[in-house]
Amino acid sequence: MNKPKRILIQMAMFDEARPLREIFNFTQEQFAHDSVLFDLYKTTVDQNILYLVIPKKCLRYDVSRVGSLMAALVAWAAIELLQPDLMINMGTAGGFQSKGAKIGDVYLADKATYHDREFHPIRDAFKKYSVGDYPVCFDEKWVTALALKKGIVSSGNRMLLIDADAKQMEKNQAVAKDMEAAAIAEVTELKNIPIIILKSITDLVDIKQSSHEQFDQNFHLAVEQLIKKAQGLILLLGK
Ligand code: ADE
Repeated sequence: MNKPKRILIQMAMFDEARPLREIFNFTQEQFAHDSVLFDLYKTTVDQNILYLVIPKKCLRYDVSRVGSLMAALVAWAAIELLQPDLMINMGTAGGFQSKGAKIGDVYLADKATYHDREFHPIRDAFKKYSVGDYPVCFDEKWVTALALKKGIVSSGNRMLLIDADAKQMEKNQAVAKDMEAAAIAEVTELKNIPIIILKSITDLVDIKQSSHEQFDQNFHLAVEQLIKKAQGLILLLGK
């Protein structure tokens, strides 16, 4: 991969992004067609321009717009506006104790799949389309240098694990479960832009305690770990 010059980071939640904004001195940007879609921040690191986009808050419910719809819309619009050389999607995810995950582990995706999209369960092409299986930018050297975990990140529009999603994730051989990565990777494939996916584990989906309770308990620790690894990755990309 060529050395990136314009790196676009996409995150889903303002609270996930705050420490990154502080560490890299991101400043908020106004842009020509300042849209209803996303907030935009900019900084420079090692002569690379870093953009950060986060879907604008849902004003009706005063929450971050998590999930695949906003992720895809924002990815598309931000790529059109900013013409990046590289997308990085980072955020939090659920992990599997049975696959060795611990709270605060940070995973580098080596593929992105969906586990809740299904149209025609018999026709092979639709089965494959539903899973997606999008290519991502992955380098074993980053895994070693930053002590990351690695594997397939699978996306769906639901935090709590239901049986059908668990079965599909098993088929996908997923090690982490989020709500945006595959949607963003689907867009970057259409736009022919490489994508790096970095996810920090807030909850273990295969233990008794519910994911949302674990998420609330572990959010700060997981984000702290995520930002440490993201900082390392961005410095590696600048070398
Ligand atoms: N983000 C953090 N934990 C998650 C989970 N269990 N499922 C989907 N997205 C998540």
